Amino acid sequence: MTQQHSRPQWWRDAVIYQIYPRSFMDANGDGIGDLAGITARLDYLEALGVDALWLSPFYRSPQADAGYDVADYRDIDPLFGTLADFDRLLAGAHERGIRMIVDLVPNHSSSAHVWFQEALAAPPGSRARARYFFRDGQGEQGELPPNNWQSIFGGPAWTRVDDGQWYLHMFDSSQPDFDWRNPEIGDEFEQVLRFWLERGVDGFRVDVAHGMIKQAGLPDWDGEQVMVEGGNRGPMWDQDEVHDIYRRWHRVLAEYGGDRMMVAEAWLRPERVVRYIRPDEMQQAFNFDYLIARWDAAALREVIDRSLAVTAQVGATTTWVMSNHDGVRHASRLGLSNPGARPQKIGIDDEQPDEALGLRRARAIIMLTLALPGSAYLYQGEELGLPDHTTMPDHYRQDPGFFRPGGEDGGRDGCRVPLPWQAEGPAFGFNTSGERWLPQPDHYARYAVDCQLGRPETTLTLYQRLLEVRRDQRLGMGELAWEPNPREDVLMLTNGDLRVVLNLGERPIALPAGRPLVQSHPEALANSMLAGNAAVWLTTR
Ligand code: NOJ
Ligand code: CA
Repeated sequence: MTQQHSRPQWWRDAVIYQIYPRSFMDANGDGIGDLAGITARLDYLEALGVDALWLSPFYRSPQADAGYDVADYRDIDPLFGTLADFDRLLAGAHERGIRMIVDLVPNHSSSAHVWFQEALAAPPGSRARARYFFRDGQGEQGELPPNNWQSIFGGPAWTRVDDGQWYLHMFDSSQPDFDWRNPEIGDEFEQVLRFWLERGVDGFRVDVAHGMIKQAGLPDWDGEQVMVEGGNRGPMWDQDEVHDIYRRWHRVLAEYGGDRMMVAEAWLRPERVVRYIRPDEMQQAFNFDYLIARWDAAALREVIDRSLAVTAQVGATTTWVMSNHDGVRHASRLGLSNPGARPQKIGIDDEQPDEALGLRRARAIIMLTLALPGSAYLYQGEELGLPDHTTMPDHYRQDPGFFRPGGEDGGRDGCRVPLPWQAEGPAFGFNTSGERWLPQPDHYARYAVDCQLGRPETTLTLYQRLLEVRRDQRLGMGELAWEPNPREDVLMLTNGDLRVVLNLGERPIALPAGRPLVQSHPEALANSMLAGNAAVWLTTR
């Protein structure tokens, strides 16, 4: 085990790499990535220098929402392999000093879950129905939904069953919400946690962590609910009692040695998010404010200061995240004419990003991100500078949000495309058969791992170098101090002996004192000037 692995509260400064198993590496050639594929690429992840992996769901599932619809929380879907494959992957990660956390999806199950099937077969008012939200409808014949809540994926959050009752689903109709006020649910999930903790996982990423308790009586909500600035609102989100669940889970995790942790996915205002990471609850929460920050020096600085301040109030560290499987990758977003836009989808008929500019900016902003104290989450492929597939024809799309009424924008497929490992060869080396569950655009060849490994000017080498310096200088445990900005479109800060300059403007800027350690791209420095859309790490030692 490396030193990193044995450090207490390892997550405080960890760099955690998100693996989207369907698209990482396909060992058996059926077109869908699998656990054996991840195991085969552990050396790559070790060489990249990440501390931990977060795996998106691999549980038994009909895959209606790419596995966020779980039919059996204690088994691996045959698409991804077996429990033995999982154990091999976990052991292989641990041998390399890499921690591994898994995705837990407790807000809803799949409609294929045995409990939901039992509920459908059981009469209204039965114990089986009480595990979910079954309600009579409104209107004379009960023909109207029980309330006016909307699904995150578009359309009403209620679907009617044969006997006339309705059930609640905040996401797709194949993802019925559990009623967490029913003690059976809490008891079951405690056993699920124990199942994976005993297998040796280092923690959990908790899906929709702010959604599990609904306001009693399920009152109508006329305000905005879905994807509003500052997070989700309404009686279906962020209810106080949800924290009892995390206090219980905290105690469960503490029973297991080795510093297990939880990270909350909670789309809320920062003052509300920090309540999930109080000392007796979860250890981390995703900082979505940073993910949605604009390409603007003042806005970034404000988000960073606020993030550090609010997490410090509860004694936690901040997480920095720029991309995940739920929105357009930052290399693409930053190449739009408005680099503050954050569409969930860029489709064939939308403005196409300036690919080169997006990449330059992505390489520059990661130098801000990885210099900050706290923990950072990377999304697979961002270390290659990978853009979204922004010209994917709609007939390939699989995101359930795309098909629901009013959900036509829900096209998260562009950021979920299989990784390119080889510039030449079937499916760019994702497998050897050439099958792939989503098409890869031709220009992914340029981003392939085999073109980037060991080459000094590549994005992959940049990430490796940044992670190495970050580790050596313990930047994640360091302290940020802002330096006066020489210009409004420039950010300058120090963390220990490191000085960081990020030039968000177009015009070059004179370099401050310090010896350059890393630059965002080969042409970033010339004649003691830092180019526009570029960054540099300098050592002041
Ligand atoms: C958040 C996940 O990140 C997303 O992919 C999923 O669709 C929803 N939760 C529902 O589980
Ligand atoms: Ca496969």
